[in-house]
Amino acid sequence: MDRIRIAGPCTLSGRVRVSGAKNAVLPEMAAMLMIDGPTRLTNVPDVHDVTTMIKVLGHLGMQDLELRDGVLTAAGCEPSEPEAPYDLVRKMRASILVLGPLLARLGRAKVSLPGGCAIGARPIDLHITALRQMGARIDIEHGYVVASGTRLRGAQIRFDKQTVTGTENIMMTASLADGRTVLRNCAQEPEVADLAAFLNACGARIEGAGGATVTIDGVDRLRGATHAVIPDRIEAGTFLMAAAATGGGITVEACRPDHLGAVIDTLRRCGVQLQEQGDAITVRPDGPLRAVDAKTLPYPEFPTDLQAQYMALMTRARGDARITETVFENRFMHVGELRRMGARIEVEGQTATVTGPAPLSGAPVMASDLRASACLIVAGLQAEGETMISRAYHIDRGYEHVVTKFRTLGARIERVRG
Ligand code: EPU
Repeated sequence: MDRIRIAGPCTLSGRVRVSGAKNAVLPEMAAMLMIDGPTRLTNVPDVHDVTTMIKVLGHLGMQDLELRDGVLTAAGCEPSEPEAPYDLVRKMRASILVLGPLLARLGRAKVSLPGGCAIGARPIDLHITALRQMGARIDIEHGYVVASGTRLRGAQIRFDKQTVTGTENIMMTASLADGRTVLRNCAQEPEVADLAAFLNACGARIEGAGGATVTIDGVDRLRGATHAVIPDRIEAGTFLMAAAATGGGITVEACRPDHLGAVIDTLRRCGVQLQEQGDAITVRPDGPLRAVDAKTLPYPEFPTDLQAQYMALMTRARGDARITETVFENRFMHVGELRRMGARIEVEGQTATVTGPAPLSGAPVMASDLRASACLIVAGLQAEGETMISRAYHIDRGYEHVVTKFRTLGARIERVRG
């Protein structure tokens, strides 16, 4: 298993380009199951989750997917197999995104229940309730969601809780259903809006995506199109926090500052000097940081996917920062590793209080999930001495060329094979 070695501390400088958003491309790839004719996605990140989704789609009969130089093409063959097996789904929860498209295209689907993961139980009850409201028959059998329904009908659906992949799954299904579907209390993440933009380019009729209410008028078929995936706001935020944590000055290019409002606002309140210019954000080296509280909530509030990285940053800020996680119930696995590096963090319920500044020292640490591994990189870059992060495969799931990008910014970081 690969590890990542960092010789700290270092001060980042230079320019870095953000890749396409993993959480936008995954539902867009699942949507390919519903599309007739050649499709092309550009700005696709070469990350393990994309490779896993290519395998999932290949298993479902789409053997013609090719990712080259950030462009993913599909010739547009129909799925022939309605079953996504446990072995594939357990590797990546986002595989549940094939449920709606398979059902819409083939009238049946059998998808392994993803189960819990390191950050929480992560049920899919809201996906299932909504599909039932559209007339699908759904049973849970032997660990699988077994769904059928030849022509689903539009429905009025209100999600009890905002769910990103739930909104995406139902938006896709409704695109090929009879009549109008109105979804309320939808997730408003930019990735949901990007999926709708892609589907609309393919002939779908979706309005309001990115807002709380989404209206979808079903169409008979979707045809292939070309679509550029939005930049990864979480990768961009990770670079901003890494630069601030090292007292460095960098420019993050090809990003969408408008997707990072709550993050930019929080960092500014910490005293980080940020300048937005078109699709770039520059962090300027500056003085000491102030501790600022943060609470994760659905978009447009502070994202749970940057909570861990922000915690690593707060170890060098003056004062107490209370970081509250409200989206997932178990997303503090990185706390123990940060403490081993010298961080002073107390956890009570869903709130972690970071007291700083607490200079970090390098240590062998273990990544528990994708964003926790990014947190450990942010910590390792500011720590004195060597940090060795094991289970590097977590970071490869969602950060493209992460070691190369940090090296370009002057970090002494390397991958240790084996
Ligand atoms: N929830 C339910 N029932 C459901 C669905 C969700 O109770 O049927 C709960 C979840 O347990 C959680 C909350 O609702 O407490 C929000 O979960 P959501 O469904 O929005 O999460 P997700 O769609 O499974 C996506 C991202 C995650 C990101 C979350 C929150 C993708 C592929 N994944 O997950 O990304 O953290 O939204 O923004 O889009 C990551 O990239 O590291 C990552 C985990």
